[in-house]
Amino acid sequence: MGSVCLTLIAVLLLKNSVLACKAPDVVESEKDWWQTAQFYQIYPRSFMDSNGDGIGDINGITSKLDYLKEIGVTAAWLSPIFKSPMVDFGYDISSFYEIQPEYGTIDDLKNLIAKAKNLGLKIILDFVPNHASTENEWFKKSVKREKGFEDFFVWHDGYENPNGGKRLPPSNWIQAFRGSAWEWNDERKQFYLHQFAVQQADLNYRNPLVVEEMKRVLRYWLDMGVAGFRIDAVPVLFEALPDSSGRYPDEPLSGTTNDKDDHDYLTHIYTENQPETLDMVYQWRTVMDDYQRIHGGDTRVLLIETYAPAWFTMPMYGNSTTKGAHLPFNFNLITMLHKGLKATDLEKSIGAWLDKMPAGRTANWVTGNHDQRRTASRYGIELADTMNMLVMMLPGASITYQGEELGMIDGEISWADSVDPAACNSNPQIYEKFTRDPSRTPFQWSNSKNAGFSTAAKTWLPLAAAYETTNVEDERKSPKSHLNIYKALVNLRKQSKLLKNGTYRFKALSDSIFVLERSLNGEKLVLLVNVGNSASTINIRDFDVTLPETMKTSIMNVYSTKSEGITIQAGRIELSPYESLVLVKT
Ligand code: NOJ
Repeated sequence: MGSVCLTLIAVLLLKNSVLACKAPDVVESEKDWWQTAQFYQIYPRSFMDSNGDGIGDINGITSKLDYLKEIGVTAAWLSPIFKSPMVDFGYDISSFYEIQPEYGTIDDLKNLIAKAKNLGLKIILDFVPNHASTENEWFKKSVKREKGFEDFFVWHDGYENPNGGKRLPPSNWIQAFRGSAWEWNDERKQFYLHQFAVQQADLNYRNPLVVEEMKRVLRYWLDMGVAGFRIDAVPVLFEALPDSSGRYPDEPLSGTTNDKDDHDYLTHIYTENQPETLDMVYQWRTVMDDYQRIHGGDTRVLLIETYAPAWFTMPMYGNSTTKGAHLPFNFNLITMLHKGLKATDLEKSIGAWLDKMPAGRTANWVTGNHDQRRTASRYGIELADTMNMLVMMLPGASITYQGEELGMIDGEISWADSVDPAACNSNPQIYEKFTRDPSRTPFQWSNSKNAGFSTAAKTWLPLAAAYETTNVEDERKSPKSHLNIYKALVNLRKQSKLLKNGTYRFKALSDSIFVLERSLNGEKLVLLVNVGNSASTINIRDFDVTLPETMKTSIMNVYSTKSEGITIQAGRIELSPYESLVLVKT
């Protein structure tokens, strides 16, 4: 392969062209399960309602395990199912050791894990270490300064207001859901920090008791048989320390918005990406590895949420002496792309991960989650299959948010129906900019009542109107549906040693044409993508001179009129608008 790459680079240098060409992350035939896994994010509230209350639940998920098997999932990550007043729909936890009653019981969870195991599926839970609900006993005890809980949260006196009236907060920090990140507690007579909603108090990670307690939480759920965790909001775990006079530093203005309540009003140099956070991630990795060593079984995996620049995200993988997260989420396909994206944007966003990832680590690819607009709405339904093709064919693990396999689009949620704090803390004029409700609408199983999600008269969020045509039942029947294309991709991925271990190269051939090639021992798979709305004719032997004159079609998106298994002249491939296709070397 090396010589092939060298030849190719020479040819391209002559053409004054740039091409990413890199060896695979680990050259080994046997990878650990998570390195090539298909992770699937379930938002339990919206997946399947088993008891007709309009809210999804654990037994609902259990009843749909066959579907997960059908679409080739390796491990399902459940967004939080723990006891919560649901201010932030489970990301405000009032008991880290209990299940939210409307979602079910511990026995329901055990049953889910056992049934999943029988089917060869793993279950991963969401670990929310940064904050606890103000309804949590820990917070109540901290308010009362009970022994052991005095410093469980981040407390500060704030400052006297020179003009009289309410005391002033300790710093200008802004929470994610608008307004000050400090809230006065009249009982304790101090401010507490909350990087998210007022009801989500930040735990104090400079307190060893907090660190220990949260490790206990991890072990508790590992004992229940979970295969690992997705860790929430990692970059905001630590804040800068106050100075010698006890003053927290103010954050500078970003200059990007005049809206003083908007989180983007400030540049978060003191509340995000602090160096201590890395060590905490490494400690959690040790908890996972120790657990496996003592109890045996498969690797317990850590997937971590890191909306952060590469200089902070990459060390999350660990360093030369210490292991970190198995997979820090790669959000480049979300943060670096936009509607009307060009092939060059794909090249940049993919390269921005693969070029910066430390040697020997495993990449991962995410295009959507419960905090983002639906992929098919963000980039247009034209790119729904294309994004799934990329996620499945790029090296490493794939992560699918429920419904992305169907090409689900955003629901339209009125101000009156809004429930997300990110929306509700704003106003009817601007809420659509902030709301996350549109991507959280119930999963679309069929075109019957409530899309087959629930028998209730009203579901917790309204259905997205598109369910009448975009749903599992109908898409199963249509050979060229998003769902069947997704299933074909997963099948290919599961069977293909090349996709697991092969080298990769990718390049934007023009503003609209992107090509990804995977190779192993002379075998090749090529993904050709036209992100543009006009037809294009290309010669992929310009991209790789070693490709044969003819190749065969394997998987096509819904915009392709080509049939499977036909022979294509590699020197002259005609692509329709938005056509994407996978070609195999014959
Ligand atoms: C990130 C989660 O994905 C999001 O849904 C939540 O609101 C915040 N963290 C706070 O936990």
